[in-house]
Amino acid sequence: MEEFIMKRDLKKIISQMTLEEKAGMCSGLDFWHLKSVERLGIPEVMVSDGPHGLRKQDDKGDHLGMNDSIKAVCFPPAALSACSFDRELMESMGETIGREAQANDVSVVLGPAVNIKRSPLCGRNFEYYSEDPYLAGEVAAAFINGVQSQHVGTSIKHFAANNQEYHRMSNSSEADERTLREIYFPAFETAVKKAQPYTFMCSYNQINGTFASENKWLLTDVLRNDWGFEGYVMSDWGAVNDRVKGLEAGLDLEMPGSNGTNDALIMEAVKNGTLKEEVLDQAVERILNIIYKYADHRAPQEFTMEKDHEEARRIAEESMVLLKNADQILPLKTSEKVAFVGGFAKKPRFQGGGSSHINCFKITNALEAVPADAQVIYAEGFPADKDLYDEKLASEALQAAKAADKVVIFAGLPDSFESEGYDRSHMRLPECQNRLIAEILEVQPNTVIVLHNGSPVEMPWINNVKGILEAYLGGQAGGAAVANILYGIVNPSGKLAETIPVKLADNPSYLNFGGGDKVEYREGVFVGYRYYDTKQMEVAYPFGYGLSYTTFAYRDLQVADKGISLKVKNTGTVDGSEIVQMYVALPESKVSRPEKELKGFVKLHLKAGEEKEVRIPFDDKTFRFFNERSGSWEQEEGTYQILADRKS
Ligand code: BGC
Repeated sequence: MEEFIMKRDLKKIISQMTLEEKAGMCSGLDFWHLKSVERLGIPEVMVSDGPHGLRKQDDKGDHLGMNDSIKAVCFPPAALSACSFDRELMESMGETIGREAQANDVSVVLGPAVNIKRSPLCGRNFEYYSEDPYLAGEVAAAFINGVQSQHVGTSIKHFAANNQEYHRMSNSSEADERTLREIYFPAFETAVKKAQPYTFMCSYNQINGTFASENKWLLTDVLRNDWGFEGYVMSDWGAVNDRVKGLEAGLDLEMPGSNGTNDALIMEAVKNGTLKEEVLDQAVERILNIIYKYADHRAPQEFTMEKDHEEARRIAEESMVLLKNADQILPLKTSEKVAFVGGFAKKPRFQGGGSSHINCFKITNALEAVPADAQVIYAEGFPADKDLYDEKLASEALQAAKAADKVVIFAGLPDSFESEGYDRSHMRLPECQNRLIAEILEVQPNTVIVLHNGSPVEMPWINNVKGILEAYLGGQAGGAAVANILYGIVNPSGKLAETIPVKLADNPSYLNFGGGDKVEYREGVFVGYRYYDTKQMEVAYPFGYGLSYTTFAYRDLQVADKGISLKVKNTGTVDGSEIVQMYVALPESKVSRPEKELKGFVKLHLKAGEEKEVRIPFDDKTFRFFNERSGSWEQEEGTYQILADRKS
């Protein structure tokens, strides 16, 4: 910020602007552009979705993912990339997207989206990182640092407590302050403190009865005063309710604009004295500061989509989660006869619907990506895009399954089952898929399931299949990542960024999700594993879980003032990566607390037989809890337990 202020006197520019120009600066020119003021040299800049690739629309704009955008690279959506638990990887993904944005004249990428996965039903979970705020904050900060290293901004979204799609434009998320501060805010807080995003995007919903877009406590007290945010806040597309109130609360930019209606209200309020002109000037200054941060650092970029496609593959490979590998059914050998069953083998589902939908320049499926000497036959079995049991397809698949040594079933959710704009109504796979899986298991015990889904599914066949690979939505190169993991070219290392409950009804928000005008966050801070662990519940797979083709052993855990250290050894015969997770517990706490909480992690690569020492530092969040009575963060005295867990 300082660097820029020395170069350009923003206050002087603002003093030369008319009231109309200033009010105009606070709303979009059209769907994707901010306004310019030519006579003062203020350039027109563009913003674009995000978060996992560019959705730059040249022609007709929309925020529903309906009209085409330019050809681009679709990286793995957040639900998958978060499973990498890898800050460097996230930063590198951000850098790559930042370079593409520079080359395409995009000043701000609208992402990352860091809302907490309160329920597996949220239609937009594929775009969100985790049920855990520490993990979401760390990966978001790394991504933001990557994008912004290219002098392209980010817009972290959707601030805040936007955890469902149902009535997203009007409903009120009703949560107590501790729950907001401990669960729904920290990902945003970490991003500000570690990466200072150029912009924030406020959400559509209300929080305890006040729209996020006019919530002064949220946009000014918490965001700027508590955390030190320096950029500007923009509205989600159409999220403005009362524009003047919003401006006073700290909402600087309205997107996409209101054809001048709200600008006129701002001018009127300044003229009749109900809005101080300084408030408007301050918003304009924040917006100009970010415009120039980008415009003053334009740099020619060289990127090739082919190279970025390979980067998208690498990210997917580092993130997919091996959930089950009984009898070491994986990796597959090229000497084995394998049947690939399921439409997703040819037509993978690799991204979600809505505003993040990328127009991919190419897509790799698993079938075409297997090793050249692999012996694979394909049977569609069921269509990838609907829940339709087709006798002919099913019987072909059963024949193929019988004839093969092993079967890999490419299962998953069709597009219509989850999307921005609506929530899921259940947590099941299409019936046709569960039925065919059961039938195949009758004839072929050596069965592996590969899942293509943005959010967990119930797995009625969990005990009968030998292998499960959670591929989530893998981005456009996800098919190659699946093939490489199945054939052991890549050793899987992802860990779940969310719990997979046995059934939907186990989820802590089950009785209070969706709702009418208000949705009550009655489970409080007991979200995800914080609930399942504390209640000692059985889950299908816990948060942080994931297998490898090798094995690891931990020893020598030392706890010191500033953090922990331990030794990690790859005790198997193949190279692999391990994610060490540090959890903190206070069993004797006087406060009602989750049994344990993630407070640190590190990912490291180890050659077969290799041992390394890792350190995980404590930080400002390790021991804190939010005391609602005093309205402040506090640390309880007591004996804390520090756990270094590998969950598998
Ligand atoms: C979404 C945002 C998106 C915006 C622009 C909205 O509907 O909620 O995430 O950035 O549209 O497409």
